[in-house]
This record gives sequence, structure tokens and C-alpha cells, in this order.
Amino acid sequence: MHAIVVKSWLKGPGDMEVTDIPVPVAKDGELLVKVDSAGVNFFDVLMIAGKYQIKPQFPFTLGAEFSGTVVKASPSDTRFAVGDRVFGSNVTGAYAEYIAVPSIQCFPIPSALSFEQAAGIYITYPTSYAGLVLRAKVQQDDWVLVHAAAGGVGIAAVQIAKALGARVIAATGSKDKFDICRQQGADHCINYHDSDWAEQVLKLTGGKGADVVYDPVGKVEESLKCVAWNGRIVVVGFAAGAIEKVATNRILLKNIAVTGVYWGAYALNEPERIPEVWDALFKLAEDGLIRPVVFQPIFHGLDQVKDALKAIAQRDTYGKAVVKLSDRSKL
Ligand SMILES: NC(=O)c1ccc[n+]([C@@H]2O[C@H](COP(=O)([O-])OP(=O)(O)OC[C@H]3O[C@@H](n4cnc5c(N)ncnc54)[C@H](OP(=O)(O)O)[C@@H]3O)[C@@H](O)[C@H]2O)c1
Repeated sequence: MHAIVVKSWLKGPGDMEVTDIPVPVAKDGELLVKVDSAGVNFFDVLMIAGKYQIKPQFPFTLGAEFSGTVVKASPSDTRFAVGDRVFGSNVTGAYAEYIAVPSIQCFPIPSALSFEQAAGIYITYPTSYAGLVLRAKVQQDDWVLVHAAAGGVGIAAVQIAKALGARVIAATGSKDKFDICRQQGADHCINYHDSDWAEQVLKLTGGKGADVVYDPVGKVEESLKCVAWNGRIVVVGFAAGAIEKVATNRILLKNIAVTGVYWGAYALNEPERIPEVWDALFKLAEDGLIRPVVFQPIFHGLDQVKDALKAIAQRDTYGKAVVKLSDRSKL
């Protein structure tokens, strides 16, 4: 089968090669899945260079998120049968025609979702749900300010906050992304490159400020200017590259709670939350309240994984960039 195999640390995605390797063998407890689509993540770039927190042993197949069809089920897990549509995640292995993956890391694809939509939801949607619901405890009519609102976790946060009855201000780094945020339900859009963006938030909220700030970028310090009394700030990530140092007196003065969310660590620390979060998300999907957004055009074939990674690095994408593998002529 074709796969992107990393045999030594690479300088960048341009050095990635599609190679021919044997189809993996699924052990007991694992499913063998024929991959239809793979979700693309910026951390792939770090992983191939040996700069990511996880450094797999060589050789490894790159790719962390996938959707596809079960071709070999696990005798010890009767939830899945051959032919089922599934999505899931693994540290490695998704940029390949087939992946062998523990069945506990897979879910059935809700009937309303396509393979392409399902390929990119394993990380983004539960992160945003856990951030907004478990950590920030978003309430109906809260003002929720979402930074990088057109990005992977950002769009998920906009949709989930709206589903919870909140009023959403979407903040992006370019006006070109306003339309996509509005289509996903944002009530207002602002550009955080405007020097007065925090004043714009105060104005939109009638002087009150945002009750919740969802921050995958690294804008906590700036956001303190426009957080409401009793506000909650959720630290999600550092897309801008810097880890902030914050003036804590401003946290005290407005009774603010600054909280983090690290979805990947729930498996270790609070595994009982995982089915709770997914059940809530599947219900929202069934009710049509969340609709995963796939960046267009969809990338086709493993050769285009590097193009997808380049587009993410240049901030050209919205939602999730997805590579479709099932078109054999382009593998
Ligand atoms: N805590 C968790 O469990 C968890 C889970 C998933 C992801 N994350 C983190 O959340 C962050 C966003 O992830 P994502 O999947 O939404 O990524 P994404 O789809 O690539 O979106 C990131 C967005 O961040 C914005 N951004 C602002 N400053 C940037 C800069 N200097 N360079 C690049 N982008 C910049 C860009 O939007 P604009 O062009 O609009 O500025 C960009 O599109 C990442 O840091 C990721 O590691 C955390």
C-alpha cells in the first residue's frame, strides 16, 4: 500500500515521500481500516522534524486523524463490523491506504456526516466542547469571544457556543474569514489585527465585555481589556507561537477565571468525561447544530499532504484541511 513513511528527521513537508509498504496487520483489540480521508494537522510538520512532544520510532507512517471503512473487525470488540464507516485517531499511521488502530480510538461516523467531514473531528470538536462546557461553563446568552474563529478548533467553538444559546463574537486575522464565521453562526466578526479590537468587543457587548474568551492563539493578555466581570478565559493553544506572561492583578480586578483545556490528557486523567463529551457532540450533530467544515478544495492523494500542510502554515485554510485518499488514480 502507499503511505507517507518517515525514516529520519526531515527538514520540512517538501522532503516527505510516498512509499510502498505492506498493509499493517491488526492485532487483537485493533481494527484494520481502509482510509478514505485523513485530517491534516500543523503538528505533522513538527513531528517529521523531530520537534513535536511525541517522537515516534523510525520508520513511522505520518498522520493522526482518519475516516474510512472497517475491513477487519476485532473479535474482542463487537461494536464494529466489517463495512462500518468509522473515524478515529492514532499517534501515527493515518497518511496511508490502511491503518491498524485500537478500536477504542474509533467511533462510528454519524449518518449525517461524510467521510471528509468525519476525518477532522476527532481532536477539534471535543476540545472545543470540553473548553466551553466543562471548563468555561458557557451559559445561554453569554457573550463568547472566539479567537482564530475560522480555524479548526475555532469553527467548532463557534458552532458549539451558538448551540448552547450564546452570543458569539468571532475574531480572525483577516476580513476574508468573516464570511465563513458568519455562515457558522457568529453574530459579529472582528479582526484582531485592528489596534482597537478589544474596544470593538466592549462596544458590541454594550460595555460589559465577553463572558467567555476561547483562545487557541495566545491572546490572553490583550483579551483582559475586554472580559466581563466574572469572565472565564480558556487557554486552548498558542498558534501565534509565544507562551504569554499575564499581569495577574487584572485577573483579580475583574473576578476572572483563567483556565486551560488539554483534551488529549482526559484519557489519562478523567476518562469518564470522554463518552460524556462525545455523546453530547453526537446529539448536537444529529440535531444539525454542529456541521464540520472542510476546507475547499479538498486535497487529493498522499502527494498533496505537503500542499495541505503548506496551506495551514500560511493561514490560508479554514475549518479542517482534509486529504482524500480513496481516489486511487491520484495515490
Ligand atoms: N488544548 C488542546 O487540547 C488542543 C486541541 C487541538 C488544538 N489545540 C491548539 O489550538 C491551536 C489551533 O489549532 P487549530 O487546529 O484550530 O489550527 P488551525 O486550523 O491551523 O488554525 C489556527 C489559526 O490560528 C490563527 N493564528 C493566529 N496567529 C497565528 C500565527 N502567528 N501563525 C499561525 N496561525 C495563527 C490563524 O487564523 P487567522 O488567520 O484568522 O489569524 C490560523 O488559521 C493550535 O495551537 C493547536 O495546537 C489545542
